Amino acid sequence: MMKEKLQEIRENALKQIESTNTLESLNDVRVAILGKKGELTNVLKGMRDVAPEDRPVVGQMVNETREKIEEALDAAKTAIASKVREEQMKREVIDVTLPAKKNKIGHPHPNTLALDEVKRIFTGMGYEVVDGPEVEYDYYNFEALNIPANHPAKDEQDTFYINDKVVLRTQTSPVQVRQMERGKLPIRMIAPGRVFRADEVDATHSPCFHQIEGMVIDKNVTFSDLKGTLAEFARELFGPETKVKFRPHHFPFTEPSAECDVTCFKCGGKGCRMCKGEGWIEILGCGMIHPRVLEMSGIDPKEYSGFAFGIGLERIALLKDEIDDMRLLYENDIRFLDQF
Ligand code: DAH
Repeated sequence: MMKEKLQEIRENALKQIESTNTLESLNDVRVAILGKKGELTNVLKGMRDVAPEDRPVVGQMVNETREKIEEALDAAKTAIASKVREEQMKREVIDVTLPAKKNKIGHPHPNTLALDEVKRIFTGMGYEVVDGPEVEYDYYNFEALNIPANHPAKDEQDTFYINDKVVLRTQTSPVQVRQMERGKLPIRMIAPGRVFRADEVDATHSPCFHQIEGMVIDKNVTFSDLKGTLAEFARELFGPETKVKFRPHHFPFTEPSAECDVTCFKCGGKGCRMCKGEGWIEILGCGMIHPRVLEMSGIDPKEYSGFAFGIGLERIALLKDEIDDMRLLYENDIRFLDQF
């Protein structure tokens, strides 16, 4: 009687296990048979109805049945697990022959490209690249550059004032002063950076733009050195055919002062749209450092002389890439930037 019952449970269990194909339903089968309220457990509870002398035999039969069912459960579990893994591997298979996805990486802004080029040229001539503050004392931005209060040049450069003594620098020239004050001579430096002027935005103006200041101070530095240096710079930047021309100008911090033009690299000087028919394009201001400026920063103008120049970075970038509107450099439209 008990024996048949056990036989039936066992066969039934093995059938259920065989037809199971997930770990979850396999566990359901385990619970239904071996669990606290499972079929086999119920049989054990019925032991008290078995005659005491038969109990060891029946007990052994129950144990055997249990072992067989557990074995079958374990085997099914291993089989299901490996099948699941196999299917997962099939699903996740990687086709190594597929072409790789291309990573889209950024690239330098036209301003950065132009600046890198200018830096390359001057560091190649032994110049050091230095930095200075964008928020600057009025003294460094104006006074120490021989632009006293009430000087018209101060009005020309519409200044953003932080307070009476502090401004957003309107030019990179104050870095000259800071460099001179360090007292280490000779000096051969360029100082690129942002400058600020209260200008309306249009095709050629922006309240924030970039300049590259240059300065050389040593014994016996002459205007010829200035001309030779800037001519070499222009040839490196715009090509070996480039010629330079110096027009007299006025800056408070240099004497004599000049503006430097280069032959249009597009038409070679014949006149075209790029140079507005002139054949020449202005690229920078320059001059011999005013003796007063040297003196104010503690350098003896009888012993030392120097030249300085200021380049508009945007101008260079616009020229080099033939861009006709400065606003394009700041709007950062990816369709524009992607072209460089
Ligand atoms: N600071 C001048 C400007 O903003 C540019 C300049 C001209 C700088 C002549 C110089 C220089 O160092 O010698 O217009």
